[in-house]
Amino acid sequence: MLSEHFNNVFLFSLDDKEMLTGLSDGPLSSGSLLREKGKQRCPEMRQTNTSLIIGADGVMGSALKKYLSSRKKKVIESTRRRNTCTTSRIFLDLSAEVDDEWIPPPGVSVAYLCAAVTSLEKCYTNPVQSAQVNVHNTVKLAKKCMENGVFVIFPSTNLVFDGTVPFRKIHNDVSPRTEYGRQKAEAEKRLHSLGEDLAIVRFTKIIDPHLPLITRWLESLRSNHVIHPFSDYVMAPIPSSLAIECLYRIAKDRLRGIHHISGPQDISYADVAYHMAHRLNAEPNLVSSIKIGNSGVFLEHNPLHTTLDSTETGKKLGIKIPEALSSIDMVFFP
Ligand SMILES: NC(=O)c1ccc[n+]([C@@H]2O[C@H](COP(=O)([O-])OP(=O)(O)OC[C@H]3O[C@@H](n4cnc5c(N)ncnc54)[C@H](OP(=O)(O)O)[C@@H]3O)[C@@H](O)[C@H]2O)c1
Repeated sequence: MLSEHFNNVFLFSLDDKEMLTGLSDGPLSSGSLLREKGKQRCPEMRQTNTSLIIGADGVMGSALKKYLSSRKKKVIESTRRRNTCTTSRIFLDLSAEVDDEWIPPPGVSVAYLCAAVTSLEKCYTNPVQSAQVNVHNTVKLAKKCMENGVFVIFPSTNLVFDGTVPFRKIHNDVSPRTEYGRQKAEAEKRLHSLGEDLAIVRFTKIIDPHLPLITRWLESLRSNHVIHPFSDYVMAPIPSSLAIECLYRIAKDRLRGIHHISGPQDISYADVAYHMAHRLNAEPNLVSSIKIGNSGVFLEHNPLHTTLDSTETGKKLGIKIPEALSSIDMVFFP
Protein backbone atom coordinates (compact mmCIF):
# COMPACT_ATOMS: atom_id res chain seq x y z
CA MET A 1 0.00 0.00 0.00
CA LEU A 2 1.36 3.36 -0.94
CA SER A 3 0.67 6.82 0.25
CA GLU A 4 1.57 10.43 -0.27
CA HIS A 5 4.75 9.35 1.41
CA PHE A 6 5.58 7.44 -1.70
CA ASN A 7 5.85 10.45 -3.83
CA ASN A 8 2.49 9.99 -5.24
CA VAL A 9 2.52 6.78 -7.21
CA PHE A 10 1.37 3.26 -6.67
CA LEU A 11 4.03 0.72 -6.05
CA PHE A 12 3.24 -2.76 -4.92
CA SER A 13 6.56 -4.51 -4.91
CA LEU A 14 10.29 -4.33 -4.39
CA ASP A 15 11.86 -1.85 -2.06
CA ASP A 16 9.30 0.86 -2.49
CA LYS A 17 6.40 -1.18 -1.21
CA GLU A 18 6.12 0.08 2.34
CA MET A 19 4.52 3.34 3.31
CA LEU A 20 5.79 5.83 5.80
CA THR A 21 4.08 5.26 9.10
CA GLY A 22 6.62 6.52 11.59
CA LEU A 23 6.65 9.82 13.36
CA SER A 24 9.27 12.45 13.57
CA ASP A 25 11.49 12.48 16.60
CA GLY A 26 10.82 16.20 16.69
CA PRO A 27 11.80 19.29 14.85
CA LEU A 28 15.31 19.45 13.52
CA SER A 29 17.22 22.65 13.83
CA SER A 30 15.66 24.33 10.85
CA GLY A 31 15.14 27.62 12.66
CA SER A 32 18.18 29.12 11.02
CA LEU A 33 16.61 28.43 7.65
CA LEU A 34 13.72 30.72 8.39
CA ARG A 35 13.75 34.46 8.70
CA GLU A 36 10.94 36.72 9.80
CA LYS A 37 10.03 38.76 6.77
CA GLY A 38 7.27 39.74 4.38
CA LYS A 39 4.41 38.90 6.74
CA GLN A 40 0.86 39.46 5.54
CA ARG A 41 -1.37 39.45 8.54
CA CYS A 42 -5.13 39.38 8.65
CA PRO A 43 -5.68 41.82 11.50
CA GLU A 44 -9.30 40.88 12.09
CA MET A 45 -8.36 37.32 12.98
CA ARG A 46 -7.44 36.35 16.53
CA GLN A 47 -3.84 35.34 17.19
CA THR A 48 -3.25 31.65 17.76
CA ASN A 49 -4.61 30.52 21.09
CA THR A 50 -5.53 26.86 20.96
CA SER A 51 -4.67 24.88 17.87
CA LEU A 52 -6.89 22.07 16.65
CA ILE A 53 -5.08 19.30 14.81
CA ILE A 54 -7.53 17.14 12.92
CA GLY A 55 -5.78 13.84 12.21
CA ALA A 56 -3.18 14.11 14.96
CA ASP A 57 -1.96 10.51 14.73
CA GLY A 58 -0.49 10.81 11.25
CA VAL A 59 3.00 11.84 10.27
CA MET A 60 2.26 15.53 9.91
CA GLY A 61 -0.30 15.71 12.73
CA SER A 62 1.91 14.08 15.31
CA ALA A 63 4.99 16.08 14.32
CA LEU A 64 2.88 19.24 14.53
CA LYS A 65 1.59 18.21 17.95
CA LYS A 66 5.14 17.68 19.15
CA TYR A 67 6.27 21.00 17.69
CA LEU A 68 3.43 22.99 19.25
CA SER A 69 3.65 21.23 22.60
CA SER A 70 7.39 21.86 22.79
CA ARG A 71 6.56 25.55 22.42
CA LYS A 72 3.98 25.34 25.19
CA LYS A 73 1.11 26.00 22.79
CA LYS A 74 -2.34 24.69 23.67
CA VAL A 75 -3.41 21.87 21.38
CA ILE A 76 -6.59 19.90 20.90
CA GLU A 77 -6.18 16.90 18.68
CA SER A 78 -8.55 14.58 16.88
CA THR A 79 -8.15 10.85 16.63
CA ARG A 80 -9.94 7.74 15.42
CA ARG A 81 -8.67 5.82 18.45
CA ARG A 82 -11.61 6.06 20.85
CA ASN A 83 -9.78 4.49 23.77
CA THR A 84 -7.20 7.29 23.72
CA CYS A 85 -9.71 10.15 23.88
CA THR A 86 -9.48 12.83 26.57
CA THR A 87 -10.79 16.38 26.82
CA SER A 88 -7.91 17.52 24.61
CA ARG A 89 -8.10 14.49 22.34
CA ILE A 90 -11.45 14.26 20.65
CA PHE A 91 -12.92 11.55 18.45
CA LEU A 92 -13.50 12.35 14.78
CA ASP A 93 -13.99 9.81 12.02
CA LEU A 94 -14.22 11.48 8.67
CA SER A 95 -15.37 8.33 6.91
CA ALA A 96 -18.68 8.59 8.79
CA GLU A 97 -21.13 11.46 8.47
CA VAL A 98 -19.81 14.40 10.48
CA ASP A 99 -22.51 15.62 12.85
CA ASP A 100 -24.26 18.75 11.56
CA GLU A 101 -24.10 20.12 15.09
CA TRP A 102 -20.30 19.76 15.28
CA ILE A 103 -18.46 22.95 16.14
CA PRO A 104 -14.77 23.46 16.91
CA PRO A 105 -13.97 23.25 20.64
CA PRO A 106 -13.99 26.55 22.54
CA GLY A 107 -10.76 28.54 22.39
CA VAL A 108 -9.64 27.10 19.08
CA SER A 109 -8.36 29.79 16.75
CA VAL A 110 -6.57 27.71 14.14
CA ALA A 111 -7.34 24.28 12.71
CA TYR A 112 -4.84 22.16 10.81
CA LEU A 113 -6.72 19.69 8.61
CA CYS A 114 -4.19 16.85 8.60
CA ALA A 115 -6.66 13.94 8.39
CA ALA A 116 -6.72 12.41 4.95
CA VAL A 117 -6.61 9.17 3.05
CA THR A 118 -3.06 9.62 1.80
CA SER A 119 -2.72 6.22 0.20
CA LEU A 120 -2.92 6.66 -3.55
CA GLU A 121 -3.86 3.04 -3.83
CA LYS A 122 -6.82 3.49 -1.48
CA CYS A 123 -8.00 6.59 -3.31
CA TYR A 124 -7.76 4.77 -6.62
CA THR A 125 -9.52 1.62 -5.48
CA ASN A 126 -12.06 3.34 -3.19
CA PRO A 127 -12.73 6.72 -4.77
CA VAL A 128 -16.11 7.23 -3.10
CA GLN A 129 -15.04 6.34 0.44
CA SER A 130 -11.78 8.27 0.18
CA ALA A 131 -13.56 11.33 -1.24
CA GLN A 132 -15.86 11.24 1.77
CA VAL A 133 -12.78 11.87 3.90
CA ASN A 134 -10.58 13.92 1.57
CA VAL A 135 -13.29 16.13 0.13
CA HIS A 136 -16.75 16.10 1.73
CA ASN A 137 -15.97 15.87 5.42
CA THR A 138 -12.77 17.86 5.18
CA VAL A 139 -14.69 20.72 3.59
CA LYS A 140 -17.54 20.32 6.06
CA LEU A 141 -15.19 20.62 9.03
CA ALA A 142 -13.43 23.57 7.42
CA LYS A 143 -16.77 25.31 6.93
CA LYS A 144 -17.71 24.80 10.58
CA CYS A 145 -14.32 26.12 11.65
CA MET A 146 -14.49 29.19 9.42
CA GLU A 147 -18.06 29.98 10.50
CA ASN A 148 -16.74 30.03 14.05
CA GLY A 149 -13.86 32.39 13.34
CA VAL A 150 -11.21 29.68 13.17
CA PHE A 151 -8.39 30.08 10.65
CA VAL A 152 -8.06 26.89 8.59
CA ILE A 153 -4.86 25.34 7.26
CA PHE A 154 -5.26 22.70 4.56
CA PRO A 155 -2.15 20.72 3.57
CA SER A 156 -2.31 19.89 -0.12
CA THR A 157 0.06 18.38 -2.62
CA ASN A 158 2.04 18.82 -5.82
CA LEU A 159 -0.23 16.09 -7.18
CA VAL A 160 -2.89 18.66 -7.94
CA PHE A 161 -0.63 19.11 -11.01
CA ASP A 162 0.25 16.55 -13.65
CA GLY A 163 4.01 16.88 -13.22
CA THR A 164 4.72 17.40 -16.90
CA VAL A 165 6.65 20.60 -16.19
CA PRO A 166 8.73 21.58 -13.16
CA PHE A 167 8.09 24.44 -10.73
CA ARG A 168 4.36 24.91 -11.14
CA LYS A 169 3.29 28.29 -9.91
CA ILE A 170 0.63 29.03 -7.33
CA HIS A 171 -1.75 30.44 -9.90
CA ASN A 172 -1.33 27.73 -12.52
CA ASP A 173 -4.46 25.74 -13.26
CA VAL A 174 -4.59 22.38 -11.54
CA SER A 175 -4.23 19.26 -13.69
CA PRO A 176 -4.37 16.18 -11.45
CA ARG A 177 -3.70 12.76 -12.94
CA THR A 178 -4.43 10.61 -9.90
CA GLU A 179 -7.60 10.10 -7.90
CA TYR A 180 -5.82 11.39 -4.81
CA GLY A 181 -4.71 14.50 -6.70
CA ARG A 182 -8.21 15.05 -8.06
CA GLN A 183 -9.65 14.83 -4.55
CA LYS A 184 -7.15 17.31 -3.18
CA ALA A 185 -7.82 19.68 -6.09
CA GLU A 186 -11.57 19.39 -5.56
CA ALA A 187 -11.17 20.04 -1.82
CA GLU A 188 -9.06 23.11 -2.62
CA LYS A 189 -11.76 24.42 -4.97
CA ARG A 190 -14.56 23.94 -2.45
CA LEU A 191 -12.50 25.44 0.36
CA HIS A 192 -11.88 28.53 -1.74
CA SER A 193 -15.61 29.02 -2.10
CA LEU A 194 -16.05 29.10 1.70
CA GLY A 195 -14.22 32.37 2.26
CA GLU A 196 -10.78 33.78 2.74
CA ASP A 197 -9.76 32.80 6.24
CA LEU A 198 -7.82 29.81 5.12
CA ALA A 199 -4.43 28.76 3.83
CA ILE A 200 -3.88 25.97 1.33
CA VAL A 201 -0.32 24.70 1.66
CA ARG A 202 0.90 22.50 -1.17
CA PHE A 203 3.88 20.36 -0.25
CA THR A 204 6.18 18.15 -2.24
CA LYS A 205 7.61 15.05 -0.57
CA ILE A 206 7.98 15.40 3.19
CA ILE A 207 10.78 13.24 4.56
CA ASP A 208 11.02 12.06 8.12
CA PRO A 209 13.67 10.08 10.02
CA HIS A 210 11.30 7.11 10.24
CA LEU A 211 10.37 6.90 6.58
CA PRO A 212 10.15 3.10 6.25
CA LEU A 213 11.51 2.85 2.73
CA ILE A 214 14.64 4.80 3.55
CA THR A 215 15.20 3.23 6.95
CA ARG A 216 14.89 -0.16 5.30
CA TRP A 217 17.45 0.85 2.69
CA LEU A 218 19.79 2.00 5.44
CA GLU A 219 19.40 -1.30 7.27
CA SER A 220 20.00 -3.28 4.09
CA LEU A 221 23.08 -1.30 3.13
CA ARG A 222 24.50 -1.67 6.64
CA SER A 223 23.94 -5.44 6.38
CA ASN A 224 25.44 -5.67 2.87
CA HIS A 225 22.12 -6.46 1.23
CA VAL A 226 21.31 -5.22 -2.27
CA ILE A 227 18.56 -2.62 -2.71
CA HIS A 228 16.62 -1.81 -5.88
CA PRO A 229 15.61 1.85 -5.97
CA PHE A 230 13.84 3.32 -8.97
CA SER A 231 15.90 5.42 -11.32
CA ASP A 232 12.87 7.00 -13.03
CA TYR A 233 10.90 7.97 -9.99
CA VAL A 234 11.57 11.37 -8.39
CA MET A 235 10.91 13.47 -5.34
CA ALA A 236 11.67 17.02 -4.23
CA PRO A 237 12.24 16.36 -0.53
CA ILE A 238 11.39 18.68 2.33
CA PRO A 239 12.55 17.83 5.88
CA SER A 240 9.45 17.29 8.01
CA SER A 241 10.74 19.67 10.66
CA LEU A 242 10.85 22.46 8.10
CA ALA A 243 7.41 21.60 6.74
CA ILE A 244 5.96 21.82 10.24
CA GLU A 245 7.68 25.09 10.99
CA CYS A 246 6.27 26.54 7.78
CA LEU A 247 2.75 25.43 8.70
CA TYR A 248 3.10 26.99 12.11
CA ARG A 249 4.29 30.29 10.69
CA ILE A 250 1.54 30.39 8.11
CA ALA A 251 -0.96 29.86 10.92
CA LYS A 252 0.67 32.33 13.28
CA ASP A 253 0.72 35.10 10.69
CA ARG A 254 -2.62 34.10 9.19
CA LEU A 255 -1.18 33.96 5.69
CA ARG A 256 -4.25 33.43 3.55
CA GLY A 257 -4.34 31.86 0.12
CA ILE A 258 -2.27 29.20 -1.59
CA HIS A 259 1.32 28.50 -0.59
CA HIS A 260 3.93 26.29 -2.23
CA ILE A 261 6.58 24.56 -0.19
CA SER A 262 8.94 22.53 -2.35
CA GLY A 263 12.40 21.13 -2.47
CA PRO A 264 14.48 23.10 -5.00
CA GLN A 265 14.99 20.18 -7.36
CA ASP A 266 13.79 16.69 -8.17
CA ILE A 267 16.05 13.79 -7.40
CA SER A 268 15.52 10.14 -8.30
CA TYR A 269 15.10 7.57 -5.59
CA ALA A 270 18.13 5.81 -7.04
CA ASP A 271 20.26 8.93 -6.57
CA VAL A 272 19.10 9.13 -2.97
CA ALA A 273 20.13 5.50 -2.49
CA TYR A 274 23.57 6.03 -4.10
CA HIS A 275 24.10 8.99 -1.80
CA MET A 276 23.18 6.94 1.23
CA ALA A 277 25.53 4.15 0.22
CA HIS A 278 28.28 6.73 -0.13
CA ARG A 279 27.52 8.20 3.29
CA LEU A 280 27.63 4.73 4.83
CA ASN A 281 30.81 3.75 2.98
CA ALA A 282 28.85 0.81 1.62
CA GLU A 283 29.86 -1.02 -1.55
CA PRO A 284 28.40 0.94 -4.50
CA ASN A 285 27.21 -2.29 -6.15
CA LEU A 286 24.76 -2.80 -3.27
CA VAL A 287 22.59 -0.23 -5.05
CA SER A 288 21.08 -1.87 -8.12
CA SER A 289 18.69 0.65 -9.63
CA ILE A 290 15.81 -0.40 -11.86
CA LYS A 291 13.26 1.29 -14.07
CA ILE A 292 9.63 1.19 -13.06
CA GLY A 293 8.69 -0.24 -16.44
CA ASN A 294 10.87 -3.29 -15.77
CA SER A 295 9.66 -3.80 -12.22
CA GLY A 296 6.15 -5.15 -12.69
CA VAL A 297 4.89 -2.29 -10.56
CA PHE A 298 1.59 -0.57 -11.36
CA LEU A 299 1.51 3.21 -11.32
CA GLU A 300 -1.60 5.28 -11.72
CA HIS A 301 0.67 8.10 -12.87
CA ASN A 302 4.38 8.81 -12.55
CA PRO A 303 5.02 12.56 -12.64
CA LEU A 304 8.19 13.54 -14.46
CA HIS A 305 8.52 16.50 -12.15
CA THR A 306 7.25 17.09 -8.64
CA THR A 307 8.74 20.51 -7.89
CA LEU A 308 6.60 23.54 -7.18
CA ASP A 309 7.59 27.17 -7.55
CA SER A 310 7.90 28.21 -3.93
CA THR A 311 9.41 31.65 -4.59
CA GLU A 312 6.36 33.55 -3.40
CA THR A 313 5.93 31.53 -0.20
CA GLY A 314 9.69 31.65 0.31
CA LYS A 315 9.57 35.45 0.27
CA LYS A 316 6.63 35.58 2.68
CA LEU A 317 8.19 33.19 5.17
CA GLY A 318 11.85 33.81 4.51
CA ILE A 319 12.28 30.14 3.77
CA LYS A 320 15.29 28.48 2.29
CA ILE A 321 14.51 24.86 1.47
CA PRO A 322 17.77 22.87 1.38
CA GLU A 323 19.08 21.16 -1.74
CA ALA A 324 17.77 17.61 -2.11
CA LEU A 325 20.84 15.79 -0.78
CA SER A 326 21.27 18.30 2.03
CA SER A 327 17.70 17.54 3.09
CA ILE A 328 18.50 13.82 3.01
CA ASP A 329 21.58 14.43 5.15
CA MET A 330 19.67 16.70 7.52
CA VAL A 331 17.04 14.04 8.18
CA PHE A 332 18.96 10.77 7.96
CA PHE A 333 22.53 11.79 8.87
CA PRO A 334 22.02 14.61 11.37
N1 LIG B 1 3.58 13.39 3.81
C1 LIG B 1 3.74 14.01 2.65
O1 LIG B 1 4.77 13.85 1.96
C2 LIG B 1 2.67 14.97 2.18
C3 LIG B 1 2.93 15.72 1.03
C4 LIG B 1 1.94 16.59 0.56
C5 LIG B 1 0.74 16.72 1.26
N2 LIG B 1 0.50 15.95 2.37
C6 LIG B 1 -0.79 16.12 3.03
O2 LIG B 1 -0.58 16.35 4.41
C7 LIG B 1 -1.67 15.85 5.18
C8 LIG B 1 -1.14 14.96 6.27
O3 LIG B 1 -0.40 13.92 5.67
P1 LIG B 1 0.39 12.86 6.53
O4 LIG B 1 1.67 12.69 5.84
O5 LIG B 1 0.39 13.21 7.96
O6 LIG B 1 -0.56 11.59 6.30
P2 LIG B 1 -0.76 10.29 7.20
O7 LIG B 1 0.46 10.00 7.98
O8 LIG B 1 -1.30 9.25 6.29
O9 LIG B 1 -1.87 10.71 8.25
C9 LIG B 1 -3.19 10.87 7.88
C10 LIG B 1 -4.01 11.02 9.12
O10 LIG B 1 -5.37 11.07 8.70
C11 LIG B 1 -6.12 10.23 9.55
N3 LIG B 1 -7.29 9.71 8.89
C12 LIG B 1 -7.35 8.94 7.77
N4 LIG B 1 -8.62 8.62 7.52
C13 LIG B 1 -9.37 9.19 8.50
C14 LIG B 1 -10.76 9.20 8.80
N5 LIG B 1 -11.62 8.52 8.06
N6 LIG B 1 -11.17 9.88 9.88
C15 LIG B 1 -10.29 10.54 10.67
N7 LIG B 1 -8.97 10.56 10.44
C16 LIG B 1 -8.53 9.89 9.37
C17 LIG B 1 -5.18 9.10 9.92
O11 LIG B 1 -5.68 8.49 11.07
P3 LIG B 1 -5.10 7.12 11.64
O12 LIG B 1 -3.81 7.49 12.28
O13 LIG B 1 -6.14 6.67 12.58
O14 LIG B 1 -4.92 6.20 10.46
C18 LIG B 1 -3.89 9.86 10.11
O15 LIG B 1 -3.81 10.35 11.42
C19 LIG B 1 -2.56 15.13 4.18
O16 LIG B 1 -3.62 15.99 3.84
C20 LIG B 1 -1.67 14.91 2.98
O17 LIG B 1 -2.45 14.91 1.80
C21 LIG B 1 1.44 15.10 2.85
